[in-house]
Amino acid sequence: MKNICIVFTFIAFAVLLTSCNNKSDEYIDPRGTDYAGSESCIQCHQSQHNDAIHTSHFKATSPGTKENILGHFVNGKNTFVYSKNIKLVMENRNDSLYQVVYKDGKEVEAYPFEILFGTKHAQTSAYWKNHYTYELPISYYKLINSWGTSPGYSATTLNFERKIDKECYACHSSNIASQYITTSSDSLNFLTMEIEDFMNKNTLVYGIDCERCHGPAKKHVQTHLKFPDLKQAQNIVSFKNLTRQQRIDACALCHSGNDQVKLKSRFQYKPGESLNSYFRKNLQLKEDLNFDVHGNQLGLLSQSKCFIKSEKMDCMSCHNPHQDSYKSMVVYSKICVSCHQESKHKPETIKNTSKTIMANNCVECHMPKQDSKAIRFQQSNTAPVTSYSLRTHKIGIYPVPKK
Ligand code: HEC
Ligand code: HEC
Ligand code: HEC
Ligand code: HEC
Ligand code: HEC
Ligand code: HEC
Ligand code: HEC
Repeated sequence: MKNICIVFTFIAFAVLLTSCNNKSDEYIDPRGTDYAGSESCIQCHQSQHNDAIHTSHFKATSPGTKENILGHFVNGKNTFVYSKNIKLVMENRNDSLYQVVYKDGKEVEAYPFEILFGTKHAQTSAYWKNHYTYELPISYYKLINSWGTSPGYSATTLNFERKIDKECYACHSSNIASQYITTSSDSLNFLTMEIEDFMNKNTLVYGIDCERCHGPAKKHVQTHLKFPDLKQAQNIVSFKNLTRQQRIDACALCHSGNDQVKLKSRFQYKPGESLNSYFRKNLQLKEDLNFDVHGNQLGLLSQSKCFIKSEKMDCMSCHNPHQDSYKSMVVYSKICVSCHQESKHKPETIKNTSKTIMANNCVECHMPKQDSKAIRFQQSNTAPVTSYSLRTHKIGIYPVPKK
């Protein structure tokens, strides 16, 4: 009896051990147990996964490694001159990347590139300090293939104290949780203690991943693993069954500007919900509002006749949510033509344009690139301000571009 008991205890212990082991192997998502993580989707959705991991969405934030960084670190291309005696140099030290400040040729301080934002047109960076992230004053811009001031930064004075707060992460990452830390200037006095809202480094989920757009999918994964013959999707929101407004809101969460009054954190949003409970100002937009080309694609699109007069147009009419915007304007022109079989152009409009361009590049004339008023930058040695231009989503009639 005693032996059996020991054996039994042993088995129970072994079971406990293995189950503990299994648990530690299992992926744990910082967002909680409802989330499965993007890796878990590969086995059943390989094509969506193969596409999506290469997108700007997945790289909207990434760790500051040599593989992910875009700017130059070689001599001659890695220096930003602020003044006669102050310069900032991008340096690679033991595989960690830094912005190093030199005063009269002597190193003063060095800040690491820890989190990168963006890949398409520009890349800005942040470093951690006291449970918060701060922006580095110099960013990389593709347009000039070089370093320039981060938006809103001076080209003559250094500043390492501007916070990159949770708002930035709410549009550029899939999660970052708060960490409440009690701080006090006087450790003996309870009454002066304050609770501050910090960021928990370990909860950052880089980039915009599958479940950021599709909502928590752990149950979906478990059900389909258990019943592999099920062809009908279980426990996941189906975009096919959403209304036009719901489909638009899923993108507008991050693509309708940032000037609304916030009622809830963007991180809480799940597909199918209405943005009305997240922002105070409704998305009914006034014709006379001048939206910036940066960050407000929906605001601009909503001012186009195409959008107002058609019943179905949403972002997916022209974009595959698992891919970046197409490089080729021919693809978009085909989409335009699917609604505009015959567009009437005046002789003077077609005069200087070949038939092929007329047919293949509707976008160049009807969605021209425009300068952002929100984002500008300067190059080293207080060079003139350079504009940052993006395509407008206000589809309309503009002066024909001169050649
Ligand atoms: C074990 C297999 C399996 C795994 C793992 C899995 N899915 Fe699915 N999923 C399915 C099946 C089956 C369907 C239904 C057929 C289809 O649409 O491909 C589906 C459909 C979907 C749909 C479309 C729903 C609709 O009705 O429009 C989405 C979105 C989706 N899955 C997201 C995910 C995400 C995100 C993950 C990873 C977190 C994931 N799936 C992991 C099996 C799986
Ligand atoms: C959580 C916020 C968020 C959501 C939700 C979101 N986006 Fe984005 N999107 C971004 C950010 C941030 C970028 C810029 C990423 C970068 O370049 O760093 C971006 C970039 C893009 C781009 C440009 C990609 C390129 O490289 O050409 C397109 C197109 C786009 N989004 C469409 C969509 C559509 C369509 C939806 C809805 C299905 C959507 N987005 C939902 C935040 C979001
Ligand atoms: C930027 C938001 C976004 C991201 C990120 C995203 N999806 Fe989707 N996904 C959508 C939207 C929107 C649809 C619906 C497309 C439609 O109806 O036109 C969709 C549709 C799907 C479908 C249905 C079949 C199809 O291709 O239309 C599957 C399956 C799916 N997504 C899986 C995934 C997986 C797996 C990932 C991560 C590897 C992922 N999605 C990442 C927005 C996103
Ligand atoms: C309301 C959502 C939103 C917020 C908040 C936001 N961004 Fe963005 N950001 C976007 C979108 C969408 C894009 C890409 C399209 C565009 O420029 O319109 C973008 C583009 C960028 C780019 C260029 C990316 C590229 O690949 O070219 C950088 C860098 C960037 N954001 C950094 C930041 C930082 C830093 C903050 C906080 C100070 C921030 N963003 C706040 C939505 C947002
Ligand atoms: C889903 C259908 C649809 C798509 C796709 C579409 N449009 Fe339209 N577009 C419309 C409708 C409807 C109108 C309004 C026509 C009217 O007023 O009679 C319109 C109006 C226009 C106008 C006249 C604008 C004005 O202010 O007078 C232009 C120019 C135009 N579209 C160009 C384009 C281009 C370029 C594309 C592709 C990038 C495109 N459209 C894609 C449906 C569409
Ligand atoms: C009628 C077609 C059409 C619709 C609808 C549309 N887009 Fe676009 N979008 C484009 C074109 C064309 C480009 C430019 C691609 C390029 O220049 O490489 C673009 C580019 C973008 C970019 C990248 C901007 C840049 O300059 O890098 C983002 C972000 C974007 N779209 C988001 C959206 C969102 C969000 C919606 C829905 C609110 C949407 N788009 C609806 C046609 C469309
Ligand atoms: C060289 C510039 C240019 C190109 C390329 C171009 N358009 Fe236009 N489009 C214009 C101008 C300018 C107008 C205003 C009428 C005019 O002066 O011809 C116009 C007018 C329109 C209109 C409103 C008039 C109408 O027919 O209802 C539509 C729709 C339109 N274009 C669609 C397209 C589509 C679709 C394409 C691509 C297949 C395209 N355009 C290519 C410059 C251009």
